[in-house]
Amino acid sequence: MLTPYPPVFIAVAGLVSPNIMDSPVLNQLLRQLFRHPACQSLRRPPSSISRQTRTFLTRRTPTKRKSQDDGMLWTKRGDYPKNIDEEYWQYPTVTAKDLKNRRERPRQVKMLTREFIDEPFDFNQIEDGPAFHRMVGERYTEFEDKLDEEKPDIARQLWHTPTELFKPYYGETIARYLVSNYKLTLYPYHDLIIYEMGAGNGTMMLNILDFIRDTDYEVYQRTKYKIIEISPALADLQTKNLLDTLSSKGHRERVEIINRSIFDWDTYVHSPCFFLALEVFDNFGHDTIRYDARTQTPQQGGVLIDANGDFHEYYNTQLDPVAARFLRVRQAAARRPFPSPLGPWYLRNLRSAGPFRKEFSSPEYIPTRLMQFFDVLNQFFPAHRLVSSDFDFLPDAVPGLNAPVVQTRYQRQTVPVTTPFVHQGYFDIFFPTDFNVIEDMYRAITGKLTQVTTHEDFVRRWAYIEDTETRNGENPLLTWYKNASMLMTV
Ligand SMILES: C[S@@+](CC[C@H](N)C(=O)[O-])C[C@H]1O[C@@H](n2cnc3c(N)ncnc32)[C@H](O)[C@@H]1O
Repeated sequence: MLTPYPPVFIAVAGLVSPNIMDSPVLNQLLRQLFRHPACQSLRRPPSSISRQTRTFLTRRTPTKRKSQDDGMLWTKRGDYPKNIDEEYWQYPTVTAKDLKNRRERPRQVKMLTREFIDEPFDFNQIEDGPAFHRMVGERYTEFEDKLDEEKPDIARQLWHTPTELFKPYYGETIARYLVSNYKLTLYPYHDLIIYEMGAGNGTMMLNILDFIRDTDYEVYQRTKYKIIEISPALADLQTKNLLDTLSSKGHRERVEIINRSIFDWDTYVHSPCFFLALEVFDNFGHDTIRYDARTQTPQQGGVLIDANGDFHEYYNTQLDPVAARFLRVRQAAARRPFPSPLGPWYLRNLRSAGPFRKEFSSPEYIPTRLMQFFDVLNQFFPAHRLVSSDFDFLPDAVPGLNAPVVQTRYQRQTVPVTTPFVHQGYFDIFFPTDFNVIEDMYRAITGKLTQVTTHEDFVRRWAYIEDTETRNGENPLLTWYKNASMLMTV
């Protein structure tokens, strides 16, 4: 059955706070949310074939130990009366790898949760694109059913990315790009050094290293893979996944996992290196700017939280140095006109003089943190080559230019809201990336040349697309993520 993810729209005219959310459903939602600890990233499972957002499990559920210590982790549930002791001992434990070549859904086996979600899709056995869509939904429903058996959680958050959905093929695609470029320009004078910022589960690292080891052992021996990960929990998970199997353990001496935000980086890396940033830019903080419609001068937005905890948005005519620099660099670097909430320049005077003109434009969200990331690259990684990908458009965004999607998940449904000023930690806020603008800014800051392609063009060029073809010839690796682009240093 297709997992139902009908978006539940909450029309919130102003700002979201518990005081203004009166409806019983919303109250229940907020009560549930406040009962749970903050999660780092809340992603929405795909709602359409062509425009994707991501889902990834962010909350790990603890399990209880059975009283007689047989080493088995056990959770008794009143509403799950079936006694499965006998089956538990009878059924073999299988891994995702064991099931790789099976055509039918496995029965009478048991799998660790990790293995259950880990099983890669066998695209060549899937009928068509919609069938794949359905299977992703089923996979997540089954996965959540399993977790609910251990510990029900109506506010559990999930996100998924091309790296996870198309493993190992997407990782192999990136690896092909890296190895080809390495061999063309750096080999044999330099090692292949790969930095990955924000590595999630560590799946990209494992897929890339497996691919290089299996296809070019000489290059593998000269490969070093370094992860820069802000989240301690994800850094631990990456280490755990690295040490999980005999095969992955073999990569240990090639890998370094550095648990640090890229914005705290302070080590000068003079060696040439590739720098991966896959689906991370959308996490970076943005500033809001609105413009005086008459004078076209910018004002910078902020939020005030009052004694009752209510949020109030404000604007200041004084821009802080970071936002001011962003506007200056963008203006100087732009090789083409960039969008403005004031509309195209040739209509602005007309609009501001019109009888129905508004005093201020709608807000524009500017990627100030992304600019600072380019500063870090420029300052500490002078010989890097960036390989980045992210969403260039997001459906269901809050109002404004380059505006984010703000959402949470409740009872397995995505709940988008209409304002970014929500209780931090309970909602996921992620931004689209305007690749034209950031390409120009990256060039201006680093002095490097670049290429922007769509996700589809990139995978057409570097993937073995037969790997992800369904039986009727559709190819989800090409058709999903139509709203993603890539920026690379050339
Ligand atoms: C949406 S996940 C993407 C994970 C992975 N790249 C993928 O495509 O599956 C974003 C990742 O970036 C990490 N991240 C976010 N901000 C970061 C920062 N300032 N420095 C380092 N990592 C960061 C998050 O912890 C998470 O691992």
